[in-house]
Amino acid sequence: MAVRRLAPKEMQPASFSFSAENLAWAKAQIEKFPPGRQQSAVIPILWRVQEQHEGWVSEAAIRATADLLGMAYIRVLEIATFYTMFQLEPVGKKAHVQVCGTTPCRLRGAEDLIEVCKHRIHHDPFHVSDDGNFSWEEVECLGACVNAPMVLIWKYTYEDLTAESFGKVLDGFASGKPVKPGPQNGRQFSAPIGGPTTLKDGGKSKKPAKGDA
Ligand code: FES
Repeated sequence: MAVRRLAPKEMQPASFSFSAENLAWAKAQIEKFPPGRQQSAVIPILWRVQEQHEGWVSEAAIRATADLLGMAYIRVLEIATFYTMFQLEPVGKKAHVQVCGTTPCRLRGAEDLIEVCKHRIHHDPFHVSDDGNFSWEEVECLGACVNAPMVLIWKYTYEDLTAESFGKVLDGFASGKPVKPGPQNGRQFSAPIGGPTTLKDGGKSKKPAKGDA
């Protein structure tokens, strides 16, 4: 897990303004919360800010979000630097890949996925590829361990990956035709590969008799 700091000053834009559409959207989110709780909208608004700002949040964007919500800048900075869902420096234009590197994914081949990132994107995390289209980082558990190993790209997870299928996922983003998110080995969600292994008789098995253990 990398230290999460704001991008250096030379990378920071001087200002950030909400687009008219996003400002209206943000105000609608704020209204969903009861009086005195409007700051609870900070995470969805920061996410929207990130989408508007080419996939990352700048210091100016953090300040603009804090101003909108009447929060101290430090409070929004704490949130942006705590959650790995927020990027603090420029990322690839087509995909920023977050590879889960926690134990279940490690045991199931996350290292192979990291090698793919090193070879196809950049040797080091948080560096944009030469063409500006891709970047990557390693993150902690993303909550899809049953489909390990997996990656998160923007808001979608790609699961049950191998180096080969992960390569196809990257190909999809490169060509502008991303593959369908979810398991990449043909299984349905987290169901057993090859179909059900239990309760296969459709509930027709005899009811347990009195005295059955
Ligand atoms: S360990 Fe990778 S998703 Fe949980």
